[in-house]
Amino acid sequence: MDDMHHLATRAVHAGREDLTDLGVHAVPIDLSTTYPSREMQAEAGRLDLLTTGARDDGMPVYGRVGNPTVDRFERALASLESTETAVAFASGMAALSATLLAVASAGKSHIVAVRPLYGTTDFLLESGLLGITTTFVSESEVAAAIRPDTGLVIVESPANPTLNEVDIRHLVAVCGDVPVLLDNTFATPVLQRPAELGAALVLHSGTKYLGGHGDVLAGVIACSEEFARGLRNVRYATGGMLHPLSGYLLLRGLSTLPIRMQVASENARILAERLTNHPAVTRVFYPGFNSDRPKNQMEGGGAMVSFEVVGDPADVIGGVCMITPAVSLGSVDTLIQNPASISHHIMDPDVRHDIGISDKLLRMSVGIEHVDDIWNDLTATFAGMG
Ligand SMILES: Cc1ncc(COP(=O)(O)O)c(C=O)c1O
Repeated sequence: MDDMHHLATRAVHAGREDLTDLGVHAVPIDLSTTYPSREMQAEAGRLDLLTTGARDDGMPVYGRVGNPTVDRFERALASLESTETAVAFASGMAALSATLLAVASAGKSHIVAVRPLYGTTDFLLESGLLGITTTFVSESEVAAAIRPDTGLVIVESPANPTLNEVDIRHLVAVCGDVPVLLDNTFATPVLQRPAELGAALVLHSGTKYLGGHGDVLAGVIACSEEFARGLRNVRYATGGMLHPLSGYLLLRGLSTLPIRMQVASENARILAERLTNHPAVTRVFYPGFNSDRPKNQMEGGGAMVSFEVVGDPADVIGGVCMITPAVSLGSVDTLIQNPASISHHIMDPDVRHDIGISDKLLRMSVGIEHVDDIWNDLTATFAGMG
């Protein structure tokens, strides 16, 4: 789909341009794990090509190498993120692991990471599980932490769960030749397009807003065709391929992403303001509330709000009625969780506290319900707290 169309139009049509010519309206789901062919030599040649990481527009050879439904989602996401291409994985963590393996296999096994990050991302980097070492820094310390063997700078903006923002253009400038991976899960391409600001790699946990309904586990990296070759190679060799049914659900999710983000973000902004004035709440985290915002970077503040309460956060988790007390985010319904006990539990508690994630913090993923119903559920819960 050509880039002259508006994002809302591309969200509906990208990756689906050929459907009318195919004589179908819904995206075909190709569940094949293997693709029959009587042409032995031709198949060997195609496999040789595919295992260089190159994209082949013909029928795939084997489901782990490529799948037509997944391919449609990749093209659609690349269109929304303004990148040449995208590579989809079975989860956000599979996408991150593949990226780390691709970077390390190119001989650069040192990573610089800006905290805070999603708890398992932090754990993966801290643990050195994939043979990489990581220097954790704040935004202002990135330039000093870069070494000759640094292969990647990793950052989330807005960050999980404190919603800190980094100035992406400035970060890219200080990183020079070292590629920046921006985890855009919280903003989505509707509100922020990091590649347009210079980020080489854009990561999504597709499990969140892209799917949008809490029923698909997925990850994706939007990037250049050159970097994508390395990622496809790792995906082929390690097997973290996205399931075709998930590819279908993600495409369907993308169609409504712009309107879901618009409604959920407006709800979140209203709730963040109301929470600020509620006596049961001691602190509210929302982009722009505790610090100046990077200019011309993200439209609005997004649909996540974090806050601390006077009482015990367990009473909020145990007290909400309509709001779902659950980890994850980005669904049409509002979810609330306590990062210290779930999303960031895996981290060292001292590190967690140092980067501003207190045990009292609650992280709310605001849905598209009527804002007053979400508010009424919260205030009734606050009223019932001991
Ligand atoms: C910002 C962010 N990045 C990455 C991930 C990992 O994604 P997944 O759970 O799909 O593996 C998450 C999960 O919560 C996340 O919040």
